[in-house]
Amino acid sequence: MSGRRHLLSVGDLGADGLREILRLADSFAEVNTRAIPKVPALRGRTVASLFFEDSTRTRLSFETAAKRLSADTVTFSAGSSSLSKGESLRDTAQTVTAMGVDCVVVRHRSAGAAVALSRWLDAAVINAGDGCHEHPTQALLDCYTIQQRLGGIEGRRVAIVGDIAHSRVARSLVAALQLLDASVTLVAPATLLPPAVEAWGVGLSSNLDDVVPRADVVYLLRLQRERQERALLPSEREFHERFGLSAERARRLADHAIVMHPGPLNRGVEIGAEVPEMTCATISEQVANGVSVRMAALFWLLGVPAGIASPPGAEVSPAPEPASAAEVGGD
Ligand code: ASP
Ligand code: CP
Repeated sequence: MSGRRHLLSVGDLGADGLREILRLADSFAEVNTRAIPKVPALRGRTVASLFFEDSTRTRLSFETAAKRLSADTVTFSAGSSSLSKGESLRDTAQTVTAMGVDCVVVRHRSAGAAVALSRWLDAAVINAGDGCHEHPTQALLDCYTIQQRLGGIEGRRVAIVGDIAHSRVARSLVAALQLLDASVTLVAPATLLPPAVEAWGVGLSSNLDDVVPRADVVYLLRLQRERQERALLPSEREFHERFGLSAERARRLADHAIVMHPGPLNRGVEIGAEVPEMTCATISEQVANGVSVRMAALFWLLGVPAGIASPPGAEVSPAPEPASAAEVGGD
């Protein structure tokens, strides 16, 4: 692997990397409130989205983030690509980067795909979700949202509920929350817990009603049927009754507590149909924060020379106010 920086997993980032990106995200959140939410920080750089699996939020927010940093973007659509002619992941990715790409944002159904690309390509690689393994920028935007709503993460009690076994979101989020000293409880039926979960160092429960009144954050996960190889539940209705956050359960949350979900939602299954519109729910905020956090991640990879991380607490000024719309230019 080259000495180039990548964003492949939360563990690679460590607590310092997480904190640094969260701090950068604050600068970019300010940019996103401007009348022209665009800065020249990555002018001349090119970011490619390589999504071999479907996405709405991650793909669009990376593309929005890159454009707001004045980077050029190229998009690869698996469905209309030469994959259908038998081209491999490696050849596809090398073809795209041969066009002069600085950063590849990749989503793939296989765990390890992003790590493999980081070895093969002469470009920074961001893992936008690899199988059941990791989704580090989702964890970053979730931590940013918790910090924004609750004022901090340390010591907060976070319950992650639902299909943990197939969730890359859960793996990245647990790692991030542990690095930032939150306390995590997983709430799920035994069939939706991953093997060797005891080694994760988290609390376990199968009783959502016990956990809800004591939680600062209830984080709900979709049943990821596309990754389930056999029937793991009697029915969605039964799952909802035991593990779904209905409006009635949400009303038993502490006043300050929040309800999070990475999306896409399956209303009436893991989340009551009306819960996303309740004031405790942060789902739209998570999506909005995703843009600032992904601007921070792109800037961390491409705007700062590798190995020269800004010291904690240092004033970071990646986002100067452009003198005029003309200065930032068009796409
Ligand atoms: N969108 C998230 C992911 O790609 C969560 C989900 O699909 O349920 O992992
Ligand atoms: N949360 C998330 O990753 O959403 P998408 O699958 O729509 O990108």
